[in-house]
Amino acid sequence: MAEVVVVPDPDTGGQLAARTVLDTVRRNPDAVLGLATGSSPLPVYRALARLIAEEGVDVGRVSGFALDEYVGLPPAHPESYRSVITREVTVPLGLSPDRVHVPDGDPARADTAGEAYERALAAAGPVDVQLLGVGTDGHIGFNEPGSSLTSRTRLKTLTEQTRRDNARFFGSVEEVPVHCVTQGIGTILRARHLILLAFGAAKADAVAAAVEGPLTASVPASAIQLHAHTTVIVDEPAASRLTHLDYYRHAWANKPAPQHI
Ligand code: F6R
Repeated sequence: MAEVVVVPDPDTGGQLAARTVLDTVRRNPDAVLGLATGSSPLPVYRALARLIAEEGVDVGRVSGFALDEYVGLPPAHPESYRSVITREVTVPLGLSPDRVHVPDGDPARADTAGEAYERALAAAGPVDVQLLGVGTDGHIGFNEPGSSLTSRTRLKTLTEQTRRDNARFFGSVEEVPVHCVTQGIGTILRARHLILLAFGAAKADAVAAAVEGPLTASVPASAIQLHAHTTVIVDEPAASRLTHLDYYRHAWANKPAPQHI
């Protein structure tokens, strides 16, 4: 079962996840980080940048692998995940740019980008800590409902719901690309530790389905139930539909190694 940690606000969740990432890097200076984009992981990156600076941690050998990329946006487009990762992760954390990987979203290579990314992951991996958000439709990465639970990195079509959700980063829904290259569910499950972050009431149904619903390709995030080390960090609104909430709080409050995920 996933460990569910209910935090008072996203910043507290970000600090908790950032501390775990930093501990991983201290133990292993060659750590491989799995990087999500979107709004959910931003508090983690902010906290991590602060901790790295305050504690003087050397991240020169750390590598990062983004979960996904839109197909058809030039890499320099401000909302390409290449740009987002550079802006939110590579620069603030001080990672070495040549060690930070994002799938190739060039339409000319969309068919082969997945295999190339799998090869790069296999050479550098496994991922030590994989940060994840969850879509309101239950996707992880951009594995939309129906994605195979053993899928690998490949070209996918976004749902209209995801395009509407992500229109806030663009001028309009029409500007959100229709296709993406995303790590598969099977790819994500190879990471050593999954940390899924979800904040706000709009995520409550997806969180409940992921953590407590049946394991099903119809809710790709339910695949976290297959992983032996998953931490789900949620605020109160995102936790509000969980049936066993009291138990999760009890388990966290009585954890032998408190505040450590
Ligand atoms: C982003 C990604 C997506 C997002 C999800 C939630 O790399 O893979 O699964 O994590 O769409 O997005 P936010 O956090 O913006 O609500």
